[in-house]
Amino acid sequence: MSRYLITAALPYANGPVHIGHLAGCYLPADIYVRYLRMKGEDVKFICGSDEHGVPITIKARQLGITPQDVVDKYHAIMRDAFFQFGISFDHYSRTSAPIHHQTASEFFKTLYDKGVFVEEITQQFYDEEAKQFLADRYITGTCPRCGYENAYGDQCENCGASLNPTDLINPKSKLSGKTPVLKPTKNWFLPMDKIQQSKEFQEYIKRFDNWKPNIKGQCASWLNEGLQPRAMTRDLDWGVKVPLPDAEGKVLYVWFDAPIGYISATKEFLTADWEKYWKNQPDKKDNPTLIHFIGKDNIVFHAIIFPMMLMTHGGYVLPENVPANEFLNLEGDKISTSRNWAVWLHEYLQDFPGREDELRYVLTSIAPETKDSEFTWKDFQARVNNELCAIVGNYVNRVVVLTNKYFAGDLNTSSAVESHPYQKEMDELFQRYTKAMNNYQFREAQSCAVEVARIGNKYLTEKEPWKKYDASNAESVAETRTVLINCFSIIAQMGLLFKPFVPRTAEKIFNLLNIAADKQIWTNKVNLAKVDDFMDLHKIKINTSSVILYQKIEDEQIEKQIQKLLEKKTMNQQPSAPSEEAVKAQMAETTFDDFSKMDIRVATILEAERVPKTDKLLKLLLDTGIDKRTVVSGIAAYYEPEKIIGQKVVMLANLAPRKIKGIESKGMILMAENEKGELSFITPQKEIITNGSTVK
Ligand code: 2FM
Ligand code: ZN
Repeated sequence: MSRYLITAALPYANGPVHIGHLAGCYLPADIYVRYLRMKGEDVKFICGSDEHGVPITIKARQLGITPQDVVDKYHAIMRDAFFQFGISFDHYSRTSAPIHHQTASEFFKTLYDKGVFVEEITQQFYDEEAKQFLADRYITGTCPRCGYENAYGDQCENCGASLNPTDLINPKSKLSGKTPVLKPTKNWFLPMDKIQQSKEFQEYIKRFDNWKPNIKGQCASWLNEGLQPRAMTRDLDWGVKVPLPDAEGKVLYVWFDAPIGYISATKEFLTADWEKYWKNQPDKKDNPTLIHFIGKDNIVFHAIIFPMMLMTHGGYVLPENVPANEFLNLEGDKISTSRNWAVWLHEYLQDFPGREDELRYVLTSIAPETKDSEFTWKDFQARVNNELCAIVGNYVNRVVVLTNKYFAGDLNTSSAVESHPYQKEMDELFQRYTKAMNNYQFREAQSCAVEVARIGNKYLTEKEPWKKYDASNAESVAETRTVLINCFSIIAQMGLLFKPFVPRTAEKIFNLLNIAADKQIWTNKVNLAKVDDFMDLHKIKINTSSVILYQKIEDEQIEKQIQKLLEKKTMNQQPSAPSEEAVKAQMAETTFDDFSKMDIRVATILEAERVPKTDKLLKLLLDTGIDKRTVVSGIAAYYEPEKIIGQKVVMLANLAPRKIKGIESKGMILMAENEKGELSFITPQKEIITNGSTVK
């Protein structure tokens, strides 16, 4: 067993998360982590919100609230969206946490005490009216290259020129509108030019040879140009205070403190054990493997600057790999938060509740692994309908239906089970899958899982039990049984291959076959030829009449999404996250005693139907873990009954029974509600939470 620390880039807490984030960083990271866990490796998956930096202070100014209000709001929104999509962080922290301030501060102090930094006095723009130094983004002026009048101090968005604030013609402060003055200020620089020459760094960059070509290429170009010293402190009042006596009004550069966020989050999560996942161990064999998943705009920070920080600090392992993705575009245009050109995860969840796996699947199919790629709604629909529904879901359901038809769901047998003729093809797929997973080629690996379903469909079609089955002929019955057993063995193996990609689908498959979590393990022993390691082919019994893994996406649903995007384009509105009022709204205090009188539990919806002559009500049968009971719920405007079967929910179980429209309702489903009054189920984030688990 090896030890891994896997990180996903800490997203800035200044806006909600969109599909580009998911495809570029969080989904690949989650897939890899789930794969490692499935292999039984010791892995910790760490992330959190990046809550410092100038863009957050700008957002706060725009909204007229404090930076802390901004990050509190978006931290919660981002965290919830990630968890709903099954991004299985072991810990999701935030850089405004005290433990982070302390860790980043100590890290800086160690480098300072070791004499790593170079102190330098430079001339920076200062706003005399606002009485503060100005970050590059707080200065605008005329671009010296193209004449555009609203260029920023670091970049002209019109011609793309990379600028220094002093390059701007007629610079103005965004704070007061006044012309800023140049004033000397002291900052601490990481001498990247010097560190680049060090033996240790030269040794480290040999790793780049094994990295994906897009990253290797970018790093090589930085290194060839020669690295320049970069200031690790900034004149700003939002961030981690520089822990030096002569550093009043200065904070750590956000790109200094953010990657340390990975360390502080691990500390917060593991307390005394954290070093095992970060530091060189006395016996080198036990050293942890550190891997950073990021988007391409973060490469230099993770592949060069952070390793330089770790190296000069000493004791830490260096990143083994930085599998960065390129960018995902949307319907022919770059995704942009400021132009609101994005599919926001919280909006997707409203429009396609319970269909997280479908988006995971499509985003992996088109992931920008080596070059930019493109999401379109039509393609989304085609992949869900033609691949997930027509190949995967259809195959599973056909097998279930036939098993019920010919064997009343019970395939138990004591005879030997002859294997099917596609074993060799499946073995090859297994090899391809493993190789692709190990090389971070998740598109390829996921396609192997679909290929397994194709093989299953082919096998079933060739065997045509619906033509050959003859109840009066024992041989025919035995042969049909063998075919269906083999079909289930293919389904189980497909479940294993799919597990890292579409975890909820895999869970449904394993539930169908009663394969316990501790059996869903990928060892070298398990290969596609030998499924007995995780299921007993002689004891297959199912107790469901049909299994609908996926619903088709209808044309109207896609039209609606396209329309929504077009409206955004014309209106250029801001994403519809909860309003400031909602964020600030507070309820009256309650006591713990009052709270603990409530019996809140997890349950699963077994049956759902509309209550006749009502618009809002659904009658639900719930498995609460303690009993099965009826609850009437006012959610019909948000959920269609046929689509919520199998949905896990949270319920108030000891609410006094009430009669609603003549139906006795025992309990209440708890729903989350946004400011528009739209409702969503609250679903437990971990699969270990089963019916009857309590909520405290
Ligand atoms: O690009 C971003 O969203 C940054 N907040 C990523 C930081 S990653 C790490 F350094 F924490
Ligand atoms: Zn320009």
